[in-house]
Amino acid sequence: MAHESVDITEKLSLFSDHWSPKVVARLNDYEIKVVKVKGEFVWHTHDDTDELFIVVAGDLTIQLRDGDVRLSPGQLFVVPRGVEHCPIADGEVHALLIEPTGSLTLATQVAHRPPASTTHRRDSRRCPTFRMPILQC
Ligand code: NI
Repeated sequence: MAHESVDITEKLSLFSDHWSPKVVARLNDYEIKVVKVKGEFVWHTHDDTDELFIVVAGDLTIQLRDGDVRLSPGQLFVVPRGVEHCPIADGEVHALLIEPTGSLTLATQVAHRPPASTTHRRDSRRCPTFRMPILQC
């Protein structure tokens, strides 16, 4: 059995869509995902899990009701479960996510994302079943 490293930069070069995490590795019951984000997401909470953001490139702001957290490459932040938040990025951001397998923290909300012409900044959203695309390791 061959053992190969996962090249995060290379994985990020394989797609260009935003807010659509791709699985690149697994760790026990967790999935390691890469994602590209740009613009503002929607306000939402995750009732069942914390959410980890590790920024690889670009500058990401996690808006929270009681203040913003700004992340540069090499920095991470954990949004505690149940805490309402809304990521926003002026430019494109590349990030790593580590989430429980099958969890829908980011990708799920894509399915619920309002049309670009509307804003629903105060909505809290929950996650339906949603299968995420997988990049082969
Ligand atoms: Ni979230």
